[in-house]
Amino acid sequence: MPVTRMQAAPTTTPIRERAAGTDYEGHFRNALERLHGERRYRVFADIERISGRFPTANWRRPDGRTTEITVWCSNDYLGMGQHPDVVAAMTETARRCGVGAGGTRNIAGNNSPLVDLERELADLHGKEAGLVFTSGYVSNQAGISTIAKLIPDCLILSDAFNHNSMIEGVRHSGCEKRVFRHNDLAHLEELLAAAGDRPKLIVFESVYSMDGDVAPIEKICDLAQRYGAMTYLDEVHAVGLYGERGAGMAERDGVMHRVDVIEGTLAKGFGCVGGYITGSALLCDAVRSHAAGFIFTTALPPAIAAAARASVRYLKRSSVERAAHQRQAARTKAALEAAGLPVLPTETHIVPVMVGDAELCKAAADHLLERHAIYIQPINYPTVPRGTERLRITPSPFHDEARIAKLTAALVETWETLDLPRAGTLFVEAAE
Ligand SMILES: Cc1ncc(COP(=O)(O)O)c(C=O)c1O
Repeated sequence: MPVTRMQAAPTTTPIRERAAGTDYEGHFRNALERLHGERRYRVFADIERISGRFPTANWRRPDGRTTEITVWCSNDYLGMGQHPDVVAAMTETARRCGVGAGGTRNIAGNNSPLVDLERELADLHGKEAGLVFTSGYVSNQAGISTIAKLIPDCLILSDAFNHNSMIEGVRHSGCEKRVFRHNDLAHLEELLAAAGDRPKLIVFESVYSMDGDVAPIEKICDLAQRYGAMTYLDEVHAVGLYGERGAGMAERDGVMHRVDVIEGTLAKGFGCVGGYITGSALLCDAVRSHAAGFIFTTALPPAIAAAARASVRYLKRSSVERAAHQRQAARTKAALEAAGLPVLPTETHIVPVMVGDAELCKAAADHLLERHAIYIQPINYPTVPRGTERLRITPSPFHDEARIAKLTAALVETWETLDLPRAGTLFVEAAE
């Protein structure tokens, strides 16, 4: 079974015995059976990354045997999770400060490396302040909901393809919302004009992680200015990767100063864990003082904050990784396209190879792992709309020519074995 099972403590009465007349466990069984029926039950690969040999990892098979594999789907886009400066900052700080934060920010958990990290992030995005959360997910959920809640009568305008964490932030705010068609400026303008004078918050991403397309940030800022709206931009799939100092797409486009709130993660391009918002000192202070998802949870530990700061600082100075990342992503795309594989054209580092069927997508991923020691997680509904299931490939600077050639041959063999649709034969539907 893919779930990790533990022996129940002997004193615990199993749910099914306790619940006379009510089959509590039956509800969980039914819920899982529904997922199996829809062919979208998720199985996690049990892997252990090998520090210093990115993107190699050991895969522990269900039978306990171990196989060395190449990971082609990590969001540690630059391999910074194994960078010597980052590992050194974490281990040195853990030795000096211990491992946990010891409390919430309010009660004993505030720590100097975390305060320094927030200053580093504010500087990265050219803002007055930064506020760190335990993940990018929490930063969106707590950030958007709190910001919108603090503005009386706020209307939220949200891109149709926004990540679940942003959708949850919008929902938790309790504010009225309008969803604009993905990257559709005319539709956004129509909604802004119809909203009249009331306060408005536009929430959107820079790089959309599944299709790899980019928002027209400058034009959205123009509209925000014209109609008196605030802007909140998720740069989760761009921080570390784009811009002269790795601040993301808004930096690349020279419009960082025009975005009111820039949100990011420390988990992907920066290779650690945690999330943040940056903005005016007043806004960050207000979120710090009101967001339940910030107040009532233990702070990020000092060793993680120090590692994240080391990563941010390193990538502010060095563009070598960014250039190599773009180069290897372009080479991967070119190789797969030349082999006739159905690559969704993207302008970014993300390489989606379309399958269009949940069961076949999982079969392709299983085959790649079993037969070729290549790990690419299948991406199925609800992460992407039904009919657009795909393998989402994320090349890094460390996926060299030999690995790209091996990946291409493995995908071609998989496509032939499973008789999967080739380039030009697959109709990619718009999002639901
Ligand atoms: C667009 C976007 N925002 C936020 C998040 C959440 O970030 P984190 O993984 O740091 O929680 C994700 C996660 O994949 C994401 O894709």
